[in-house]
Amino acid sequence: MTRRSLVLGCGAYLPERILTNEELSTRIDTSDEWIVERTGIRERRIAADGETTSDIAVRAADAALANAGLSAADVDLIIVATSTPDETFPACATMVQASLGGTRGIAFDVQAACSGFVYALATADNFIRVGQADTALVIGSETFSRILDWDDRATCVLFGDGAGALILRGGSAGDRGVLSTHLHADGSYHDLLYVDGGPGSNREVGQLRMQGREVFRHAVVFLADVVDEALARHGLTASDVDWFVPHQANRRIIDAMAKRLGLAADKIVVTIDRHANTSAASIPLALDEASRDGRIEQGDLVLMEAMGGGFTWAAGVIRW
Ligand code: UT7
Repeated sequence: MTRRSLVLGCGAYLPERILTNEELSTRIDTSDEWIVERTGIRERRIAADGETTSDIAVRAADAALANAGLSAADVDLIIVATSTPDETFPACATMVQASLGGTRGIAFDVQAACSGFVYALATADNFIRVGQADTALVIGSETFSRILDWDDRATCVLFGDGAGALILRGGSAGDRGVLSTHLHADGSYHDLLYVDGGPGSNREVGQLRMQGREVFRHAVVFLADVVDEALARHGLTASDVDWFVPHQANRRIIDAMAKRLGLAADKIVVTIDRHANTSAASIPLALDEASRDGRIEQGDLVLMEAMGGGFTWAAGVIRW
């Protein structure tokens, strides 16, 4: 029997504070109408003062462990996908481990911007497949509100804070599990989407800079390619996909991908209206929502895709 990474549970956490488009439009020159029409976003969550990426990651991890019926002691690998860690080091993953009361196993962060969750999923899956880990806690957690230029209407309306987590365990259960992941990067696109400062070798805490229209143009091409690659690997077509769970960057990108795949609207998990773009957290937040409300059920085929700064882009196929 093939050893695969089986999904045991998931969890999520959203900060309490809701920032609506209306409220934003009282601060900067924008409108609910523009934001909804161009992005599909209606509101986003903003972390409280002092509430960090690791804090919200722990909340998502607790929910995922409860959902899986496990305790922190069962976990031997923690990976946090984030571009907004609390500190340059140590990794958020070690902070999560400490908060959960763990002292053993492997813990580190993965940084691949908005593709971070699929990169982290791929990393955990590979650790599990080769037997270096048995039970993995894979988290996407972000506080992008801390790296936004709140005077730049072209970017500050787009992002939100949140965390989502998935528990994977090595084993065999028919055709269930992470079937494949497909990762890509091309660093020549740095200047189209980046943060212009720290942490690390630059002393200033940076702010996000994006040439939105250019990112959009590349996103639809790269995402289409990586989704085709993922389906082709298994000889699948879009009609085999039960749930399409895309990174939530722009409703128009999601709709363009769904149209290209010929997927009905009721097969697509959309959270962007309430969460905005939560970068590495958007996919696990969407997975958690759709599995808790009964849409994603055991045995369903789930297709994920994401694209972000770097550029990085990625897809994943899971038989839930
Ligand atoms: O998750 C990582 C990957 N990120 C993405 O995939 C984001 C990809 N890009 C996008 O989602 C879209 O390009 C945006 C939502 C960022 C922008 O939408 P757009 O349709 O590409 O608009 P645009 O940048 O071409 O701007 C159109 C107009 C401009 O005004 P002029 O020059 O036509 O007069 C902007 O100044 O809209 C203006 N504008 C705004 N107006 C009101 C830009 N932001 C705003 C705003 N409110 N918040």
